[in-house]
Amino acid sequence: MSMTNGGLEHKIKHLYQQNRRTVGKYSYTIPSSKTYPYQWLWDSCFMAITMSHFDIAQAKQELRALVSKQFENGMIPHIIYWQHTDVPDHLKIAWGKRQTSSITQPPLLAEAVGKIYAADGDIKFVREMLPHIHNFHRFFYRDRDPRKSGLIGIINPDESGEDTSPRFDQALELGPSWTLAENYAARMELVEDWREARFVVRQRMDLKHWVRDLPFNCVLLESLNITARLAGLAGEGHVAEWALEHAEKTSQAIREKMVADDGLFCSTMNWGDKELKINIRTWALFMPMYAGLATHDEANQMVGMMSDPDFFATSYGVPTVSVDEPSFDLENTWPWPNWRGPVWMGSNWMIAKGLRRYGYDEQADQLRDQSIQLIEKSGFREFYNPFSGEGYGAEGFTWGGLVLDM
Ligand code: GLC
Repeated sequence: MSMTNGGLEHKIKHLYQQNRRTVGKYSYTIPSSKTYPYQWLWDSCFMAITMSHFDIAQAKQELRALVSKQFENGMIPHIIYWQHTDVPDHLKIAWGKRQTSSITQPPLLAEAVGKIYAADGDIKFVREMLPHIHNFHRFFYRDRDPRKSGLIGIINPDESGEDTSPRFDQALELGPSWTLAENYAARMELVEDWREARFVVRQRMDLKHWVRDLPFNCVLLESLNITARLAGLAGEGHVAEWALEHAEKTSQAIREKMVADDGLFCSTMNWGDKELKINIRTWALFMPMYAGLATHDEANQMVGMMSDPDFFATSYGVPTVSVDEPSFDLENTWPWPNWRGPVWMGSNWMIAKGLRRYGYDEQADQLRDQSIQLIEKSGFREFYNPFSGEGYGAEGFTWGGLVLDM
């Protein structure tokens, strides 16, 4: 049975209502009631983007709740524990602080504000959010780029949002065969290390994990460009100028320093006093299209890989890791999120945006249709098998709502 578009929208609205929580004057949406009962940074942005299509007032509330816990140094934490809720044991993570976590996630805030503005033209809301976005950006260049390279580093795989991606295996110093439990333990050790370092990155870059992650830097780049546009409209010339200047610097740095052996883009990491390229093919490859950084030739090459069954062409969307990678793995699915092959709606959404940006509408439509088929077949799940469409991980997971924006 196929869902009509109206039926799908209805299901998404219903899920979002079920996952909405209110604490005092704030309301926010949890990613999944059994598994993820708090507010997460990039999840909230995905949800605001989704809600910009049917509930703008709530989309704004979502972001207001998110920025209400912004740190003084501008960082927005990746989790806000609004209220105590029992979670499964493996999620009882102490992320270094009491009411929030101590790390961040990809800065999709400007993207979400831009979508809301496109839906209702409320420039006052843009003005309300701009200082938060600007301070968040300034945090990255001040605290996460101590050598002024134009590229910002992440201090834990969880900051990328792709907790278990093989892009971080080497940085975690995990040997060739390890269990997800070991991966998890290594990530938790990092939280401890950084807590001991009081989260001061300067002079601590020899610590284990300093990865200049490609998707993260691409999201930041796009965030700066969106901010420049919004700040221009809001008459905030200084903010617009600052954003453009930093966008220019970062896009040049990505071009110069993040190029893999195969000529495509890649993440890099510190290893002792060396800077290494991370030559592992993941969906990150396509992020320069999302950020508008790729040339048309590069985009063409990327789309070629996306439509090649030896790499990324499967029945249901784009797998998070190329099927030819030794780390490609669809087996390990519970209780940890698997970013080593399964399809996720958040990555599908970013890839679809990149495809449209470069005029690949047919491919973007196909990705949207495949994403809808996943929901029809397996419901709103955290991630999916790219060959069978089987759903895994959390249930009632909100990211599926993004199909409304695809
Ligand atoms: C998992 C995902 C992460 C997400 C979180 C909440 O940890 O890997 O990206 O933010 O769940 O949904």
